[in-house]
Amino acid sequence: MSSTGAIAPANEEAVRAWDTVLYDRWKQFRGVFVEALADITDEVFTRFPPSEGGRCIDVGCGFGDTTRRMAQLTGPDGFALGTDSSPRFIADAVREAEEAGAWNVAFEVADAQTAAWTSTFDYAFSRMGTQFFAAPVPAMRAVRGALVPGGRLVKVCWRRKHESPMWAETAEVVERFLSRPAEYEADTCGPGPFSLGNPDTCRGILEAAGFTDVDLHARDFPYRMGRDLDEAIDAILAVGPAAELVRLNGEHGEAARPAIADALAEHLADWTQPDGSVVGRASVWFVTAVSPSSAAA
Ligand SMILES: C[S@@+](CC[C@H](N)C(=O)[O-])C[C@H]1O[C@@H](n2cnc3c(N)ncnc32)[C@H](O)[C@@H]1O
Repeated sequence: MSSTGAIAPANEEAVRAWDTVLYDRWKQFRGVFVEALADITDEVFTRFPPSEGGRCIDVGCGFGDTTRRMAQLTGPDGFALGTDSSPRFIADAVREAEEAGAWNVAFEVADAQTAAWTSTFDYAFSRMGTQFFAAPVPAMRAVRGALVPGGRLVKVCWRRKHESPMWAETAEVVERFLSRPAEYEADTCGPGPFSLGNPDTCRGILEAAGFTDVDLHARDFPYRMGRDLDEAIDAILAVGPAAELVRLNGEHGEAARPAIADALAEHLADWTQPDGSVVGRASVWFVTAVSPSSAAA
């Protein structure tokens, strides 16, 4: 595992959160989160695939699932680099790639906002890894800098919260019990999962970073929140807007958890499937863009 650059001071709190409490929760509920995104991940790589023999970079790669996938898709002459600001995510990604015998992948710890990648990749990808930068334009400029002229960016990010009822409605349930504290001690994940939900914001950041041909494709999909009601409630109170409200309220949030869980169980009953699993509606952007031949550095 290599490490490049420093963490931008404005990202320190978020990077710490991603390497501690959020890492723990993602690891615990990885089966839910990664499985829930499996179909749209297949779809995005089918619609906008990396080229055979290509060089790919995966930004905010987490456990490296999509990095390994790109390494497979590009074939024996291809290569994929997974990058993430969290040493713990990257340590797992390295170990899992070794265990899988994936030889055309590498991983590095890097804050995208301070990274100084050179133009050696023809495909930059991110699944839910670009919403958390304090300064998204420099970060996306660094991603563009990693691309050769004509290289393509493909990324997946959440649309606005209200466009995903599984996030919005569950957060509303929690808001019946808790409000966002004016002052709180806990680190937050950064600007947040929905920071690119507004299409003008999402497009504007990429254009300011020097990308052209920016296209946003809305994709609504069924999100499997858990194999059963208990898992769905635990997962929704682990990561996302409902979970953050509980976490930021500290002891008060923990004390409210049983009543919140009961209210969520009532709300999610309508979303429970014949096999017991809980499926909500969610919505993402598939974002594509190009690093032009004549972009200013
Ligand atoms: C929602 S997770 C997505 C992980 C992975 N892409 C996936 O789909 O499973 C967001 C990831 O972004 C990473 N991240 C947050 N801030 C970052 C930054 N400034 N630079 C690089 N990665 C960052 C986190 O450590 C985390 O692994």
